[in-house]
Amino acid sequence: NESAIGIHDLSFATTEFVLPHTVLAEHNGTDVGKYHKGIGQRSMSVAAADEDIVTMGAAAAAPIIERHGSDGIRTVIFATESSIDQAKSAGIYVHSLLGLPSATRVVELKQACYGGTAALQFAIGLVRRDPTQRVLVVASDVSTYELDSPGEATQGAAAVAMLVGTDPALVRIEEPSGVFTADVMDFWRPNYRDAALVDGQESIGAYLLAVEGSWKDYTEQGGRALDEFAAFCYHQPFTKMAYKAHRHLLNHCGHGVDEDRVARDLGLTTEYNNVIGNSYTASVYLALAALLDQADDLTGRAVGFLSYGSGSVAEFFAGTVVPGYREHLRTEAHREAIDRRKPVGHARYRALHEHSFPADGGDHRTPAESTGPFRLAGLHGHKRIYEAR
Ligand code: CAA
Repeated sequence: NESAIGIHDLSFATTEFVLPHTVLAEHNGTDVGKYHKGIGQRSMSVAAADEDIVTMGAAAAAPIIERHGSDGIRTVIFATESSIDQAKSAGIYVHSLLGLPSATRVVELKQACYGGTAALQFAIGLVRRDPTQRVLVVASDVSTYELDSPGEATQGAAAVAMLVGTDPALVRIEEPSGVFTADVMDFWRPNYRDAALVDGQESIGAYLLAVEGSWKDYTEQGGRALDEFAAFCYHQPFTKMAYKAHRHLLNHCGHGVDEDRVARDLGLTTEYNNVIGNSYTASVYLALAALLDQADDLTGRAVGFLSYGSGSVAEFFAGTVVPGYREHLRTEAHREAIDRRKPVGHARYRALHEHSFPADGGDHRTPAESTGPFRLAGLHGHKRIYEAR
């Protein structure tokens, strides 16, 4: 009879700018139907020169600290695959910007897009050990592919912050988990590159294999039956991938593919990701936010989570939505984070894509473009300087 542990609060932030896929399609001479229908993306969040994983992560977490205070938070886990430093955790900058107490442990985790789920599961382990503590999980990424590559249309950026603790107000995370690892080169980013390398078709195949593998382990561990779930939150590198994955799972389980059922299982979960783009570690939790914010009433219902990270690691697990959860949602703030973005033209988007700090690490002031609560002011002696507004 151990107490329930799970997601007590969830908040996300995204970028200052947005590039509509109509603009990309016009530039590329691509039929926009390929983007809107083929991959299921309508626009992508684009970071200003003074935004990064830290400014987004702090902006996502600040409303959580505002609502709950920092009492009981003894750990901050920052998940990312677009890290800004090889040694120092981006979480320390967030810890500082939010004024969290020094009696905190802070660490950064990496395993491609799976890192956010690793953070959530490790947080649950820490709370199980000491049920009085809460863990702040931040999953933040800027997804960058080469210009004019097939991956370009799947870029995006966002951060999700979650407060993990006992008696959660939103979602109880259940045992068991189904886990899966395979050594594949479907998507990776060597240390000397800013943009990821990807074998597009290989990555889709690797994702589907991981769905099968993690589901198999989940059922062997005594998990729920497929029919018990009200909805499924998949990692969404592009929202059509969730549909491919869910059809694959239904087929694999001998259910056949009933398109009404697929739409019912996934429909609401793609509404944020299809206008934000791939936010890597945050993506599966943006799917959860979209589901909770828009569904009529999910009280007591089970939600399935499929978290995939290239390379590859996947985990299938379930959560139960807690009675009264709707009073704790941040639906309005989430809509505002999406709607406040300013559209950029193609030339501006390309310039932002090419933007990087001078490799000599010398003094550099970043143009003040963003209007969010935190900004990256520049670089001084190889040190990143952040400011709170
Ligand atoms: N109207 C409607 N649909 C159209 C169309 C049109 N005019 N033109 C094409 N389409 C459809 C195609 O039929 C195809 O649909 P299906 O997949 O159902 O067959 C879809 O649009 C995409 O077309 P292509 O396969 O030709 O597209 P592409 O090869 O140019 O690129 C991609 C697609 C491989 C996903 C590419 O965007 C990419 O490399 N993305 C990055 C990698 C990625 O996201 N992989 C996902 C799994 S890995 C992962 O999940 C980790 C992660 O976050 C990266």
